[in-house]
Amino acid sequence: MNKSGFYDAWRSDKVNKGYAGHFQSRDEKAHTERRRIVNSVYSIASVLESEDAINSCTRSLCDTLRGFSRNETKVDLALWMQYYAFDILGELIFGSRFGFMEERNDVGNYMKAIHSICIRNTIAGTLPSYLSQFTAPTLALFNSTFREAISTIINLAVASKTAMVKRMGEIEEDKDDRRDMLRKLVELSADRGNVVNFTTSHIHSESHSSFFAGADTTAIALSSILGHLIRKPKAYEKLTAEIDTTFSNGLLSSPVKYNEAIKLPYLRACINEGMRLHPSVGLSMPREVPSYGVTINGYHIPEKSTVGMNPAVVQYDTDWFGTDAEQYNPDRWLGVDGKQMEKAMLHFGYGTRICLGKNIALSEIYKLIPQLLREFHIHLVNPDKVLESRNYWFNKVINEEVYIEERFH
Ligand code: HEM
Repeated sequence: MNKSGFYDAWRSDKVNKGYAGHFQSRDEKAHTERRRIVNSVYSIASVLESEDAINSCTRSLCDTLRGFSRNETKVDLALWMQYYAFDILGELIFGSRFGFMEERNDVGNYMKAIHSICIRNTIAGTLPSYLSQFTAPTLALFNSTFREAISTIINLAVASKTAMVKRMGEIEEDKDDRRDMLRKLVELSADRGNVVNFTTSHIHSESHSSFFAGADTTAIALSSILGHLIRKPKAYEKLTAEIDTTFSNGLLSSPVKYNEAIKLPYLRACINEGMRLHPSVGLSMPREVPSYGVTINGYHIPEKSTVGMNPAVVQYDTDWFGTDAEQYNPDRWLGVDGKQMEKAMLHFGYGTRICLGKNIALSEIYKLIPQLLREFHIHLVNPDKVLESRNYWFNKVINEEVYIEERFH
């Protein structure tokens, strides 16, 4: 089924010229062709060629957290996961960070702007099309936050283009041999760009969209996985014990390697469980019923209706996840049913429209969680505080105040 009109609200004709973008495209044929061109750049083997860049961001994060620990400073963990995820994407996509962690700030107000745009797009996408077309002009007229967000997003497009042009210059001059994603996209364009129509402007929209789609989503996943663990001491201790033992046995390095981390069963269970209970996308992913209609579970749905599935609903299904599906229980993933349950997860979407950046996100998550738990003990400032979130498509974790303590001095 094709994506519904909801996705039109996310188009930006300023950045995406011609092709609407992987996420926004409603034309399955154009989408398949585009994804075929770039898929290899997002494979796990390709992402792991940039493992050093991820390590360098992790080192910066841990050094800063160590400073907070020594000064007993309260830390908003959700905010720091955003700084981290935005900086990693800068490194991977543009070969340099935008400096969120270093500045300890929302550089250029990009995070705030993406948030405002998500609110507008979610509302506009949910309204009937005859109303949604008026949301942007109306907001632009009456809402100064929205006006600022639009100009910041344009600034982000300019900043990402500047970073891209700089990195392309370095690649051309052969200044270093880093095989980051931009280099691979440039190589693709040089090799086959004329044949498949993949030019510099397509590379820019590709990079810009990844930045938009990949930073908040990964930050939410990290915050959710950690947020559930710090509220469940038994699971936290069990996972720390698994990590410590694996380190002692020499099977986990520092910095943690992705290929080592994925072998830890309880780590995998905690990652799955965190992303199950609090998926990063918290709304239905709408699709349009084709002209012949469809029959789903015995119900006939006529043509042009909109249907959709929401990961935050599907992943609470007791038939798949057990009668305690509402509860946090990483152990559910350890038995033979674990593999079956993984098939019912919708957190990265499904089928032809599955998340393009899944391997980037998983490599960040599998590397960072054990690294943090090995080096620090994290606990809530207020132990009774529930996980707080705001859901405008990205179901963002907010106000997650914690103390960080160094485990080894
Ligand atoms: C834990 C982190 C992430 C989660 C949970 C996530 C989740 C999702 C979901 C649910 C979709 C499907 C949306 C739909 O069908 O409407 C999607 C699509 C997409 N994601 Fe992610 N994402 C994550 C990280 C990333 C990263 C790091 C990138 C980029 C580098 C990225 C880029 C994209 C793109 C381009 C699409 C559109 C794919 C297409 O339709 O071809 N995502 N993501």
